[in-house]
Amino acid sequence: MCGIVGIIGSEFKVGDLIDGLKKLEYRGYDSAGVATVDGNGLYVSKSVGRIDALRGVVETEKAVHNGIAHTRWATHGVPSDRNAHPHTDCSGKIAVVHNGIIENYQELKKGLLERGHKFHSETDTEVISHLIEENFKGNLYQAVLETLKELRGAFAIVVIHSDIPDVMIGARKGSPLVFGCNEEKCMLASDVTPIIKYTRDVIFLEDGDVVYIQGNKARITDFSGNIVIRNRMHISWDENAAEKGGFKHFMLKEINEVPEAIESALVGRYDEKGFPVLHELDEFNLERVKRILLVACGTSYHAGLVFKYFAEKYLDIDVLIDVASEFRYRPIRITDDTLTVAISQSGETADTLESIRAIKKAGGKVIAITNVVGSTITRESDVTLFMNAGPEIGVAASKTYINQLIVLYTLALYMIKKLGKWNNIHDEISRQILNSSKIIKQIIQDPKIEQMADLYKNYNHFMYVGRGINTATAMEGALKLKEISYINAVAYAAGELKHGPIALLDPTFPVFAVVPKDSLYEKMRSNIEESKARNAKIITIATEGDKEIERISNNVIYIPQVSEDLYPLVIAPVIQLFAYYIANKRGYDPDKPRNLAKSVTVE
Ligand code: AGP
Repeated sequence: MCGIVGIIGSEFKVGDLIDGLKKLEYRGYDSAGVATVDGNGLYVSKSVGRIDALRGVVETEKAVHNGIAHTRWATHGVPSDRNAHPHTDCSGKIAVVHNGIIENYQELKKGLLERGHKFHSETDTEVISHLIEENFKGNLYQAVLETLKELRGAFAIVVIHSDIPDVMIGARKGSPLVFGCNEEKCMLASDVTPIIKYTRDVIFLEDGDVVYIQGNKARITDFSGNIVIRNRMHISWDENAAEKGGFKHFMLKEINEVPEAIESALVGRYDEKGFPVLHELDEFNLERVKRILLVACGTSYHAGLVFKYFAEKYLDIDVLIDVASEFRYRPIRITDDTLTVAISQSGETADTLESIRAIKKAGGKVIAITNVVGSTITRESDVTLFMNAGPEIGVAASKTYINQLIVLYTLALYMIKKLGKWNNIHDEISRQILNSSKIIKQIIQDPKIEQMADLYKNYNHFMYVGRGINTATAMEGALKLKEISYINAVAYAAGELKHGPIALLDPTFPVFAVVPKDSLYEKMRSNIEESKARNAKIITIATEGDKEIERISNNVIYIPQVSEDLYPLVIAPVIQLFAYYIANKRGYDPDKPRNLAKSVTVE
């Protein structure tokens, strides 16, 4: 995943391009570059490393009218100055920035080399600049259209040419590209955060769109040059919403945003009696559903697991869930009573998108759950339930995971109501969901979470365990700790310990047990006892008032009593904060964990 910014129109500074990149840094940050054109030619500066390293090698105060910039997450070619974008052609007049993967770049590069082109990088992207050079006969737009026909794979590109300093061209197929203009300038970017400083009314380009910008006028066509009409969307996020807002890291800010994020997810989704209302699903005949296929990756997969346990408990249906990277290669059987739910906070995860395409091909209907308005998943699914968590800049999912749970619980409750299975248990669950932002606000303030992180920050192994619906909680807790503190955190259904994993336990291998007062509590207690017998330190998350658990734990974090189905929701901020504080205390940047990017658009 990479970040693209392009600005054209009235005078601006090169530093404005870099400011735009900074707002996209979570999309990739191993190298960055800018290119600008004026009457005297093309100027390109690049730097391996974070965006601030680039700021050190460019004239940030230089006044320009047309420029593109890029922050990279390497897919082809190691992070380096020469592999950083923008990439240029042999003439040194054309500059291209690209997000995605050109799947047929080797064969394209072979032909270009045979025709005498000289390459400077190992990237797939560079073939685009040389192809445009070959196709350029004076009209950059036509040259780009010709080039797009030769590309296979996923891309969002922005192109400029030093002979035509008042033109910028963008195109997308499979990777996001957002476009917006105000009275003086037009902008292209990989998502809205760099654009809202200039305009809040943006267009999310669709796959197959090309935008031709001259000065601050623009037209959008398809790859054949036919004009297409795209609706503007108004983005209400204020700029601060994407800034840290006084917190040390975006991740801590975003965990603290959970209460308001939950409220946003609930808006319009429950009536005055507390019954769920999902008008987006009015066209769906949910009464007929007997089988749900659920596909997602990573944290979104764990949210799907919570849905599975909850939905199967109250609905007479089977929920078959799989990680998208496996699902997409398996036989997909779609029957009349099958419904598919695809969960992706970014809406751009390649494996999840490919799974959706396979489901559609098999005749399935897909409900998408995503956080990003205008993301690809929204256009490839039959209906989208937005998580409305606001921008999440931290690479590790926090508020988006919790909002996924809110939407998924609501979806299950909606089906329970639709299928006439609603009873007073669901009245209570609905009431608690509607009150969950207040419950979680209280949990987030608990100083014991950071104190516990301080005690365990130097351990290099953790065993997360849970039972039933909290197996998902244990898995998510382990993923959070792994991905931001690089600790070996493993997760198991607690009953599995005796089938092997317990061999790992010793004083250096603490057990993090999710053991709320639920129907599996006694079973969990025995698992904790068997772990203690191996001299492992015991950390527990337990229900307030449970003194018994304190006796068998080294450390316990208490959470308020809720319906046992909702513990994954209220425990989520605890596992997120525990991971955040440990990562922070180990000196890592939780916002930009090594080797990870916010949205995995490569397979
Ligand atoms: C979340 O903390 C991880 N960074 C990662 O597992 C993520 O959940 C996964 O890549 C799926 O992303 P998506 O929800 O945007 O599809």
